[in-house]
Amino acid sequence: MERYAKRALDVLQKAFAAAGYPAAGLALPQALDLELPPDPAMGDLGFPCFRLSKPLKKAPPAVAQELAAHCQQQLAGLPEQTMLKAAAVGPYVNFTVDAQVLLSDLLGDILAGGGDGRYGKVPEKTRGRWVMEFSSPNIAKPFMAGHLRSTALGAALARVGAYRGFDVISINHLGDWGTQYGKLAVAVKRFGKDLPADPGIKDLVAVYVKFHEEAEKDPALEDEAREAFARLERGDSELMELWKKCVVISMKEFSRTYQRLGVEFTHVWGESYYRDQLEPLLAELRKLGLIEESEGALVVRLTDAQGKEIPPAILQKKDGATIYATRDVAAARYRWEKFRFDRMSYIVGQEQKLHFQQVFGVLRRMNAEWVSRCEHIPYGLYRFKGAKMSTRKGNVVTLEDVLETAREAVLERLRARTLDAGVDADQVAETVALGAVVFNDLSNDPARDLDFDVERVTDFEGETGPYLQYAHTRCLSILRKAGGLDTFKQDLAAPAGDPADVSRLGRLAPEPELISRLRTPEELLLVKRLGQFPHHLERTLSFAKASQLCHFLIDVTQAFGGFYRECRVIQEDQPELTRARLLLVEATRRVLAQGLRFVGIPLPERM
Ligand code: ARG
Repeated sequence: MERYAKRALDVLQKAFAAAGYPAAGLALPQALDLELPPDPAMGDLGFPCFRLSKPLKKAPPAVAQELAAHCQQQLAGLPEQTMLKAAAVGPYVNFTVDAQVLLSDLLGDILAGGGDGRYGKVPEKTRGRWVMEFSSPNIAKPFMAGHLRSTALGAALARVGAYRGFDVISINHLGDWGTQYGKLAVAVKRFGKDLPADPGIKDLVAVYVKFHEEAEKDPALEDEAREAFARLERGDSELMELWKKCVVISMKEFSRTYQRLGVEFTHVWGESYYRDQLEPLLAELRKLGLIEESEGALVVRLTDAQGKEIPPAILQKKDGATIYATRDVAAARYRWEKFRFDRMSYIVGQEQKLHFQQVFGVLRRMNAEWVSRCEHIPYGLYRFKGAKMSTRKGNVVTLEDVLETAREAVLERLRARTLDAGVDADQVAETVALGAVVFNDLSNDPARDLDFDVERVTDFEGETGPYLQYAHTRCLSILRKAGGLDTFKQDLAAPAGDPADVSRLGRLAPEPELISRLRTPEELLLVKRLGQFPHHLERTLSFAKASQLCHFLIDVTQAFGGFYRECRVIQEDQPELTRARLLLVEATRRVLAQGLRFVGIPLPERM
């Protein structure tokens, strides 16, 4: 739809000028102002007139009438009449494109892709540089369900961002520095003798717990730990060795999790990465006269972006140790120096809102004007329904727990179904469970708390990951069947190998004559939906919400369901119609595969 969105925008902007709106101080419409009418019968693209109502002193429907008339005039003057009409529909100006033209153009675009067979792809690194920080778990602690929220969203935005032409740099800001690692080092030194030969995070946690138990009896241990962190900050080699060991043990496990989730980072730069930059930072703040002493600690007084006073940022504790915020200020400055980014996003829990206000506040006081390019993208908590998860002590739920619960539920459902020939329920269960968990996470507004109701998220019929995965396997099985009929060319046989690998899609160039055989409302609706892919990718990025993309994929799947119900694809006595429909199935499969890959949902070949 991109092509039409551009034309509609062009027409709108000209109509604005003709109507004299810019002179009245109204900003020209932008691509993201365009919306997609919920029902394609109302039009293919819509421009909402609400914001014009007040300055023009007219009700929105009246503005829409006036603007639509100007658009019609512009359209009449165009040499190429592909945009059929502009009309006021309530408070919107809606554009409708001729169905056959749209069908042929869209399906052509989708199947030919943007140079490498992929629809909606923008040439690499042609837009700004975008630093995204996400995941950032703490070492020597299990990977929590909550960290999945940041990881899944960040990875999805990074994938879509790169596809849409941004130079994405992803950073995992591992929690690996701070007083607690002084404790851990002491704990490993004292009680580490019992660690197994190949220790895991669980063993580190056990040692850490032991430290706390002992510290209750012997408070001197706490002092020892504080002292240890101070020595660590000064680079004490023995403690460094112990600490490094803990990082390695943790990273080994985290890497497994990332592999399972299909997540990669440009840089894994934990908090410790910036440790040499903390002294110089404090010195600079001192020189700028921004540091004040408060009860032995060093603080910077702050106001928020609106100039309202907020609690001061503590940058050094009484005992001389630096803290989390100090490292964040140093990290931001380092990244700016290194990358000169256009946008930097921190995907971190909403409970850290004040923390980021403070970090940005300190930077503002240091006259780092680029702080306006930084944003905190907050997310809500994971909440659990169902006895199983809530019985776990202390409400600490790890990602492993969640995935395991989902896997069991999926397995039960798979066993109750008739599976495709040759499918092993145990094997598919892992893939489907992962899809269910990730989709549940991303389809919800990140800012809200997330309910994990295992029955709902694994339902094959609901708006779920498994529902989408299943639709994709349906496409594959139709194509597989077609590949067996010798009337159909090999290009439409089911692709071999990993169905999720969309990196080498062939370019198909269907003849318009063939496409004109697609005439039912279901076919048209499905093509229109597919055509909206680029639009939803853009919205996903600008709102930093993968839920945009998830809902789009559900819409596509529902449209595909309608098509599949109403239109028989393979009809041996109608090879042309069959081929046209197979092309539509392949187009659907491509968009679904690409979209699901962005979201981070693995695709089983059969299920
Ligand atoms: N490690 C932190 C946690 O688990 C998240 C780090 C967020 N990023 C940052 N730059 N402060 O809560």
